[in-house]
Amino acid sequence: MAKMEVKTSLLDDMIGVGDMVLLEPLNEDSFINNLKKRFDHNEVYTYIGSVVISINPYRSLPIYTPEKVEEYRNRNFYELSPHIFALSDEAYRSLRDQDKDQCILITGESGAGKTEASKLVMSYVAAVCGKGAEVNQVKEQLLQSNPVLEAFGNAKTVRNDNSSRFGKYMDIEFDFKGDPLGGVISNYLLEKSRVVKQPRGERNFHIFYQILSGASEDFLCKLKLERDFSRYNYLGLDSAKVNGVDDAANFRTVRNAMQIVGFMDHETQSVFEVVAAVLKLGNIEFKPESRVNGLDESKIKDKNELKEICELTGIDQSVLERAFSFRTVEAKQEKVSTTLNVAQAYYARDALAKNLYSRLFSWLVTRINESIKAQTKVRKKVMGVLDIYGFEIFEDNSFEQFIINYCNEKLQQIFIELTLKEEQEEYIREGIEWTHIEYFNNAIICDLIENNQTGILAMLDEECLRPGTVTDDTFLEKLNQVCATHQHFESRMSKCSRFLNDTTLPHSCFRIQHYAGKVMYQVEGFVDKNNDLLYRDLSQAMWKASHSLIKALFPEGNPAKINLKRPPTAGSQFKASVATLMKNLQTKNPNYIRCIKPNDKKAAHIFNDALVCHQIRYLGLLENVRVRRAGYAFRQAYEPCLERYKMLCKQTWPHWRGPARAGVEVLFNELEIPEEEFSFGRSKIFIRNPRTLFKLEDLRKQRLEDLATLIEKIYRGWKCRTRFLLMKKSQIVIASWYRRYAQQKKYQKIKSSAIVVQSYIRGWKARKLLRELKHQKRCNEAATIIAAYWHGTQARRELKRLKEEARRKHAVAVIWAYWLGLKVRREYRKFFRANAGRKIYEFTLQRLMQKYFLEMKNKMPSLSPIDKNWPVRPYLFLDSTHKELKRIFHLWRCKKYRDQFTDQQKLIYEEKLEASELFKDKKALYPASVGQPFQGAYLEISKNPKYKKLKDAVDEKIIIAEVVNKINRANGKATSRIFLLTKNNVLLADQKSGNIKSEVPLGDVTKVSMSSQNDGFFAVHLKEGSGAASKGDFLLSSDHLIEMATKLYRTTLSQTKQKLNIEISDEFLVQFRQDKVCVKFIQGSQKNGNIPTCKRKNNRLLEVAVP
Ligand SMILES: Nc1ncnc2c1ncn2[C@@H]1O[C@H](COP(=O)(O)OP(=O)(O)OP(=O)(O)O)[C@@H](O)[C@H]1O
Ligand SMILES: [Mg+2]
Repeated sequence: MAKMEVKTSLLDDMIGVGDMVLLEPLNEDSFINNLKKRFDHNEVYTYIGSVVISINPYRSLPIYTPEKVEEYRNRNFYELSPHIFALSDEAYRSLRDQDKDQCILITGESGAGKTEASKLVMSYVAAVCGKGAEVNQVKEQLLQSNPVLEAFGNAKTVRNDNSSRFGKYMDIEFDFKGDPLGGVISNYLLEKSRVVKQPRGERNFHIFYQILSGASEDFLCKLKLERDFSRYNYLGLDSAKVNGVDDAANFRTVRNAMQIVGFMDHETQSVFEVVAAVLKLGNIEFKPESRVNGLDESKIKDKNELKEICELTGIDQSVLERAFSFRTVEAKQEKVSTTLNVAQAYYARDALAKNLYSRLFSWLVTRINESIKAQTKVRKKVMGVLDIYGFEIFEDNSFEQFIINYCNEKLQQIFIELTLKEEQEEYIREGIEWTHIEYFNNAIICDLIENNQTGILAMLDEECLRPGTVTDDTFLEKLNQVCATHQHFESRMSKCSRFLNDTTLPHSCFRIQHYAGKVMYQVEGFVDKNNDLLYRDLSQAMWKASHSLIKALFPEGNPAKINLKRPPTAGSQFKASVATLMKNLQTKNPNYIRCIKPNDKKAAHIFNDALVCHQIRYLGLLENVRVRRAGYAFRQAYEPCLERYKMLCKQTWPHWRGPARAGVEVLFNELEIPEEEFSFGRSKIFIRNPRTLFKLEDLRKQRLEDLATLIEKIYRGWKCRTRFLLMKKSQIVIASWYRRYAQQKKYQKIKSSAIVVQSYIRGWKARKLLRELKHQKRCNEAATIIAAYWHGTQARRELKRLKEEARRKHAVAVIWAYWLGLKVRREYRKFFRANAGRKIYEFTLQRLMQKYFLEMKNKMPSLSPIDKNWPVRPYLFLDSTHKELKRIFHLWRCKKYRDQFTDQQKLIYEEKLEASELFKDKKALYPASVGQPFQGAYLEISKNPKYKKLKDAVDEKIIIAEVVNKINRANGKATSRIFLLTKNNVLLADQKSGNIKSEVPLGDVTKVSMSSQNDGFFAVHLKEGSGAASKGDFLLSSDHLIEMATKLYRTTLSQTKQKLNIEISDEFLVQFRQDKVCVKFIQGSQKNGNIPTCKRKNNRLLEVAVP
């Protein structure tokens, strides 16, 4: 609940009094005490009506967070505790919603917090106004213009470490929706004397220190600067460092801000070059030099600095040097050049530095304006924020303080005009009876300063323009004459003797009683500063610079545009711009922030009563409160008043239907508030005494508690009822859903049951029909069957009868046959028994044979002669028949096979058959020969010319022509011979020459011997005593032994009709000449691999080793 408590009025949880108008009793002490109490509780803001009093806390308070911004956003002014955000919000909303241009006037003395307040206002407005990429950029540029201007225009003074040394008025422009479009900044008189000299304990403008601390070595080198502050005469050394200020970091912030605002890189560079040039100008020193004609002349001591400045700014060194030594006065086409003495040279140098800097500052403002100006030409709503230098009283007050304080006088004036006067005019406007309240009107002081004839500024201008010698003293004299009688002017020299003995007032000073106190001004320098003279030689030298920015800063240096008219004085310029400002402010709805400084030590938590009291007095705050509540402490429009208190009366609660004023009347009557305590204005109710308001507040508080209870009660009831109704509704929904579900289930069950019943009935019906149909069909079938049976029965009966008849007939025939048989047997019994057995046997045998042959016919094997298959013998008694049949079949199929052969094939097979008969199972060589065809003529004698002679010698048909090895009879070695077999002879010829070595007629060949082994050796035995047998038998070996032996055998048989004896034995005798030699075959020798070898062992033995 605690979180839900929201403040709805500044009257809630008030510390002291949030609005001074409600202060009771009202006097200076209570006023200060109230401020102090609030200050001690961190409440730095207090209202006087719509004016905000702001006390500088000198420390950061957590009251400017984004959450706070949200809290104050779109809330009524008095709704929350006093805050600068409330005022900003009020101003912004009134600008946005009511189309009223606003101005926010921030006043107070130096260090009271004006600049901070102006930034807070700007940041609040930036936070609450429109959003979007473009709008955000505008906002960012507006906000970032502050650090740039503060760096160049603020400085540490004894009163404020960040004192604004220029006046600033900024117009923020908005479109009809309240989105920011841009802004325009006006600047007022920069305190340029600070550039060349600063009072003790103060600093030059921040930017000088920032450059030296924050710039990189490189950048410093480019600017020809050194980091050491003490190198520069223009920088006050005693407080070069300020506590809590980081110049280096600030320099980075400034450069970043310049970038955001839209400065180009070269522009930023130029700006810093000008700053560097100003700093270096201070280091130029002069020494006196006497000339012959006695006139003083000065000379630059060390030209190095001058050279660097010239390099930096692109000015011809000789031009600048001359400008520091001479002064040319031009009058009516006459030019007079005079030399400058040392003092004048220094004056010229400082004047140049001041002018350069102040013009740079004005250029910066113009450049920022260029960036932030609104891009559209549509009508804009404007919110002006004025942050001008505060009222200043120093020990030595000069022309600048005079100007600053004059400006503050004018602001006080406008405050009085718009607030005190406005307040009183409001009563008249509202038709309230009113007695005028006296307050101090500072118009008289303004008049003392700005009156066109007798005003101090007019006197000063008059003096500056007067021919003849003009000094500050002549000016003071003049003042003494003209203003002597003025109540607020004090001077020792005045004719009025009031101050003749006032020792606190030196002779060279005058004193003005400002609204904020008396200020004594040193008259020295007034004339010069007002004249603000820069020797023309210098401005021309500057114009000649190649540095484009410097050239642009001194347009009057252009010789083509020489203007002999004096420029307006500083005082008159300022007066004019202040007058314009005032006029501008008067057109806008003013909002005031009155800043108060709690102590002189710039310290937190210290509240100096005397100091605050002084400020309250001169700011006229008490009068402000008094005027506001002279008649009436509090006023409020009828609507919000009725809204706030309507719960105190039954008629107005909860709704009042009628005019708000009537409602308030009814309310006040009901509450019995005495009539003298309030008054009805035209649009507002005015309450005279704060007590009445507090009483109303108390009643309201009490009533709120009751209402809270009531609301709680109703809320609880409502909550329970809502819950109940919700549950009821839910129950109905659930029940309906359940019923639907249950009915659905039931329906589905009934439906499926109906389908089952239906299917049963249909089934039953169908079965019944089927049964009937089947019955009918069966009846039909039964009739047919019965008929069939009947016919069957009849047929069978008939058949039976016929069979019976036939059997009888047969029986008769059999009986007859038997009878006949019996008769025959009886008759032939004696013959029958002798032949019956043989006949039955023959018949059975015949039948079996028949069956055997018929079966054989189906089981016959193939016609291949080598097919060994033959059906199994069925009966033992058919054994020999079966074998014979097999043999016959075999012979027959062999014949069949042979019948296919040609004659030549027949011959070959006959030969092969012969060989088989001769050698099969006798000679181991035989099986290998079976597959070899017998070619006979292996040597083609007729075709080979080598054997032509041999061919010619043999005129018979050659049966065998083959190379054989003839074994030497003496040593058993082999020699190749051609072996020829003709019809009648066997010939051996030399293989090379073809010469016939031996010729043996077939009739002389008696026998051929060979071993039973696998060798090709054979011996041809010759008939003893024949011509060929002189050398003895031949022992030969051939690869075709079987063929040769076979052919020899057949040829011999066909020629001699005698079978050639072929002896197969592993040991046989041969006749070599006279010797009988035994040829012995030994098996198993592996000596010569697979080739059989022959060796003559002795006279009787020749061994053949067969592998
Ligand atoms: N609301 C604030 N919260 C915290 N500190 C503040 C606040 N207002 C002012 N200060 C402190 O007081 C110092 C002086 O304030 P500021 O510069 O605004 O004074 P000023 O009125 O502008 O003075 P001048 O007239 O010299 O420019 C600030 O630098 C800051 O330290
Ligand atoms: Mg300031």
